[in-house]
Amino acid sequence: MQEDILKINGLKKYFPIGGKGNENKFVKAIDGIDFTLCRGETLGLVGESGSGKSTTAYTVIGMYGITEGFISFKEKDIGVDIEKRPLNMKKEIQMVFQDPGTSLNPQHTVYKILELPLKIHKICPPKDYPKEVARLMDMVELPHEYMHTYPGMLGGGEKQMVAIARALATRPSMIVLDEPTSALDVSVQAKIINMLLRLQKEMNLSYLFITHDLSLMRNVADRVAIMYLGKIAEIAPTESFFQNPKHPYTQMLLSSIPVVSEEEEEYKPKRIHSQGEIPSPVNVPKGCSFNTRCPFVMEVCKEDDPRMLNFEGNHSVRCHLCSK
Ligand SMILES: Nc1ncnc2c1ncn2[C@@H]1O[C@H](COP(=O)(O)OP(=O)(O)O)[C@@H](O)[C@H]1O
Ligand code: SF4
Ligand SMILES: [Mg+2]
Repeated sequence: MQEDILKINGLKKYFPIGGKGNENKFVKAIDGIDFTLCRGETLGLVGESGSGKSTTAYTVIGMYGITEGFISFKEKDIGVDIEKRPLNMKKEIQMVFQDPGTSLNPQHTVYKILELPLKIHKICPPKDYPKEVARLMDMVELPHEYMHTYPGMLGGGEKQMVAIARALATRPSMIVLDEPTSALDVSVQAKIINMLLRLQKEMNLSYLFITHDLSLMRNVADRVAIMYLGKIAEIAPTESFFQNPKHPYTQMLLSSIPVVSEEEEEYKPKRIHSQGEIPSPVNVPKGCSFNTRCPFVMEVCKEDDPRMLNFEGNHSVRCHLCSK
């Protein structure tokens, strides 16, 4: 692997609840996470709805300021509001949102959507815009006749291709993909994923790939991190993550996904039933935040929040069971 281009340390993002009597109450959307991303690498960030994945994405791209911690990109601190972020940093980190229906301006043609980042970031001289827009459309395999079409006239997959082309326009080194295929028909999901993998190779891109679909990560991610209530429960290289999951939450999620081969069946953890629902991030349980659902809960889990333990092979876990 090459050098780390993104480093996140102790990142927290709290949202005030607001309203009378709630002055000291916060939604702890991200509550102290650490991870890195290498050049050309895909890190899969997985978790149930509400676990803090999108908030992580928005803090990385600078849409949200941060409550605490550090985000550095190519050794430069970028944990500040997007307004204060240097333009060349905004150019380097792009994002593809879940729903291309809302992330593309319906009043702009595909041409105008793709031209805008070229203008803002002065990617090429204005006379070259048409050629560059055509090149971007080729990269995502969109026919040139769509150039003067509005997003509303395109299918979901095609809209997402425009969104991907727009992200590529600034020639970034990293793209945050927030559930890029979950709003699309199953028939186009594989096409978009394959395209993303091809583009990654061609441009040596780093992907922070956010999804609630753990099985997708098996073929896409180099490493997988699992989030629960604003914290990372486990992070490991993909093979180790799927073959030797250590955290009860990871085991629980893996035990419930379908497998496609006998080999996968062999590694699949026995079905683990969790108790209860995911608690609110306003009232995170004391101790280990998973303790209200964990089938292996011990007394210590209700008092002490486990710290991240690092094991051989770059495999890290937050669980008291692993500290024995
Ligand atoms: N702008 C916001 N204001 C208040 N709470 C928010 C805001 N954005 C997200 N949250 C809350 O933070 C938690 C994490 O949300 P999110 O990052 O969207 O999770 P995910 O993407 O994993 O579903 C949720 O409880 C959500 O309601
Ligand atoms: S620390 Fe305790 S409650 Fe938390 S996951 Fe491990 S065993 Fe379960
Ligand atoms: Mg989300």
